[in-house]
Amino acid sequence: MTFPQALPSPRTPDSRDAPPLRWAIMGPGWIAEQFVASLQAHTTQVVAAVGSRSLDRAQAFASRHDIATAVGSYDELVALDDVDVVYVATPHPSHLEHAVMSMEAGKHVLVEKPIAISADQARQIAAVAARTGQFCAEALWTLFLPKWDVLRQVLDAGGLGELRSVHTVYGEHFPDGHRIFDPALAGGPLLDLGTYPLAYVTSLLGPARSVAAAGVPDVRGVNGQLGATMLHDGGTMSVVATTLHGWPRNEITIIGSEGVATVEALHNSPGPITITSADRGVTLTYDEPHGDQVGGLHFQAAEAARRIAAGERETPIRLLSASIISLEASDEIRRQVGISFAEAGLDEHG
Ligand SMILES: NC(=O)c1ccc[n+]([C@@H]2O[C@H](COP(=O)([O-])OP(=O)(O)OC[C@H]3O[C@@H](n4cnc5c(N)ncnc54)[C@H](OP(=O)(O)O)[C@@H]3O)[C@@H](O)[C@H]2O)c1
Repeated sequence: MTFPQALPSPRTPDSRDAPPLRWAIMGPGWIAEQFVASLQAHTTQVVAAVGSRSLDRAQAFASRHDIATAVGSYDELVALDDVDVVYVATPHPSHLEHAVMSMEAGKHVLVEKPIAISADQARQIAAVAARTGQFCAEALWTLFLPKWDVLRQVLDAGGLGELRSVHTVYGEHFPDGHRIFDPALAGGPLLDLGTYPLAYVTSLLGPARSVAAAGVPDVRGVNGQLGATMLHDGGTMSVVATTLHGWPRNEITIIGSEGVATVEALHNSPGPITITSADRGVTLTYDEPHGDQVGGLHFQAAEAARRIAAGERETPIRLLSASIISLEASDEIRRQVGISFAEAGLDEHG
């Protein structure tokens, strides 16, 4: 019996102890607001500059967050001298261009999820990171949360025995007019929401070796919902689903020979994890309070700052190779469901 008697404590360091770097915010949209609020509340990181396609929007964001420098183009932003790392928070079809221009300008990058719209694009980002020697990581913030470190320790110690399967869903409701309905921004739930389930299952079980996917279009012109069953090495499997039609109970269930772990809803945010022995005789809970992005986005920034200050080019929490593996599964799901970015004028290979 390997089922633990108690849960480990998270090893996640205090974000305030990370060396303070100078951050530039590229794309002052919704998530950038949460990211800056999280940094300013929970770290000693310096938000030094913000860049927008519009100087007015950059200045408005800068005055809301007390940021010294606001510029009206991304070219000007990456050329600034007093910046160490760029946080790319533009829509996902632009991540390749914006990550590459930042690294070519000598800046490290933390790129919002998904790091790109296809595995091909992610490979290009990884190649530029290797050539320029800049730090580069996908801001898959959930994997940087203390709760994920607790889960990792339980699994690494064999606490659930041999893993059998992972089941997870991510759905939300979006108002008409949200960018998720825009095909030109690679809309639909797969990349915005499905990125999380795909990251979970591939980081827990490894690459998808086979995929069986199906989906249904939304009347507004993008895919509306889809599901996939995937086989991974060692006789394991995952079942994932994503929808833009509403809020299911967004949990992760991880089934092993000795027990079951449940990452409670909302799985991508701070919150509790419960593990129950296979015979259901013992239940242990890691009681992280439910939180939001502002309470959790800072962990990835602190990790990036620590790695950059140490001269490292990646974080083991989200290697570029792991982002590529997620996107390979995403590419195959899209192929089977018939989601074409080319129809919307997007070049997923360039
Ligand atoms: N980690 C999380 O929890 C989380 C949550 C939400 C979103 N995200 C990710 O963050 C990225 C941005 O999402 P968001 O919800 O913040 O989007 P958003 O509110 O629309 O903001 C995106 C920003 O990018 C800039 N931009 C550059 N090119 C653009 C274009 N062609 N169309 C529209 N905006 C463009 C815009 O700023 P300017 O025009 O002023 O430069 C805009 O404010 C996405 O990749 C998404 O997947 C992550």
